[in-house]
Amino acid sequence: MASDTDTETENAPAPVLIRDMAIDDLAPVFHLGEQLFQNELYPTLYRTWDEWEVTGLYNTDPEYCLIAEIDGEFAGFVLGTVIEKQMTYGYINWLGVDHRFQRRGVADSLVDRFVERTIHQGARSLFIDTDPANEPAVKFFTRKGFDNVRRHVYMSLDLAQHPYFGRLIDYEQDQVDRTARKHHRRPKG
Ligand SMILES: CC(C)(COP(=O)(O)OP(=O)(O)OC[C@H]1O[C@@H](n2cnc3c(N)ncnc32)[C@H](O)[C@@H]1OP(=O)(O)O)[C@@H](O)C(=O)NCCC(=O)NCCS
Repeated sequence: MASDTDTETENAPAPVLIRDMAIDDLAPVFHLGEQLFQNELYPTLYRTWDEWEVTGLYNTDPEYCLIAEIDGEFAGFVLGTVIEKQMTYGYINWLGVDHRFQRRGVADSLVDRFVERTIHQGARSLFIDTDPANEPAVKFFTRKGFDNVRRHVYMSLDLAQHPYFGRLIDYEQDQVDRTARKHHRRPKG
């Protein structure tokens, strides 16, 4: 007969395993980021997420690239760095958890391990940034104790309205017209 303890163990959620990122994780991490950092939700994250973020950080900061697994399945990642500039500080560049495993403490475990590693490296502060509209992330980091919020302004310039853009279009149109006239004048036969 199963005891209460056995039943509790059977029903308990599978633990989150945190390990170092390995070469075979590069593609899964990149593709999970593609799913999570969507243009409609977080345009800045979308614009800056690419293959180089994953391969670059794995190359320069492998000890700060961590993978979370649940039941042997890839559940999430954290990619970061430690910077020494007047003081030593950690920086979480990217954090992502597969939708199937969200709200199960995966990010919590990833960030805890990241924090341990950065403290071990001599860091005394840890920085993150994210879109203010990214409520899950803002709530997550606030709950983890991050504070001292500083807003950052993003601006853009519509280059299609720039005078140089107009001149370039005129120039290219002129080239097309010249070529067309040349062909038109060419004698037949
Ligand atoms: C933000 C993110 C990493 C959180 O991962 P997670 O594994 O689900 O987080 P956890 O389970 O460890 O959550 C811990 C706490 O964070 C907060 N939180 C997480 N997701 C939340 C959500 N969707 N809405 C509100 N609060 C949320 C809650 O306080 C939560 O505690 P609770 O479950 O007891 O309420 C995940 O939602 C994600 O991958 N988002 C898309 C990528 C992204 O925005 N990354 C951050 C910027 S790089």
